[in-house]
Amino acid sequence: MRFRCLSVTVLFAVAFAAAQTPQTAKLPEVPYVPTENSVVDAMLKLAGVNNTDIVYDLGCGDGRIVVRAAKNHGARGVGVDIDPVRIQQARENAKRNNVESLVRFEEIDADIREATVVTLYLLPNVNVRLRPKLLRDLKPGTRIVSHSFDMGDWKPEKEEQVDGATIYLWTIPEKK
Ligand SMILES: C[S@@+](CC[C@H](N)C(=O)[O-])C[C@H]1O[C@@H](n2cnc3c(N)ncnc32)[C@H](O)[C@@H]1O
Repeated sequence: MRFRCLSVTVLFAVAFAAAQTPQTAKLPEVPYVPTENSVVDAMLKLAGVNNTDIVYDLGCGDGRIVVRAAKNHGARGVGVDIDPVRIQQARENAKRNNVESLVRFEEIDADIREATVVTLYLLPNVNVRLRPKLLRDLKPGTRIVSHSFDMGDWKPEKEEQVDGATIYLWTIPEKK
């Protein structure tokens, strides 16, 4: 629990420092803090991931969420990260776990329309900013799971505590 509070505090502290720095290049808005594997497993379970799913992790770090979705559930996956070092780590992670045929990692802004599950471990303001894109681009029925942070006034349909972390689930509604 103490580690969990520290992780979330570090996430906010580094994000605040980055926001104070004049930015000439595209920098990560959210620092790299990996999700513990027990929490990854709970996120995939909460979303009900199976071998028909395509899991997108927006800000994928070392790729652990899509790699575990592929290895343990047979899902396909795409990880997107602004940091080329993380993309390299994620590709090595996929290779080590023999799931290269199921997953890919990209540094560019991804077209997320094919996703059936989207995972997030970002920051509250980034989640809220992403929300219109998620609602616009994702198909009805697509599940979104977020580690630690909610989506403002879009209330989650489920919320769970896992090893000191909170995880949230939403489903994209039918388009009006
Ligand atoms: C808190 S980490 C989460 C990593 C991984 N999803 C996990 O749960 O283990 C956030 C990640 O988002 C990435 N990131 C930050 N800003 C980004 C942006 N604008 N576009 C894409 N990725 C970004 C960071 O490089 C970092 O790897």
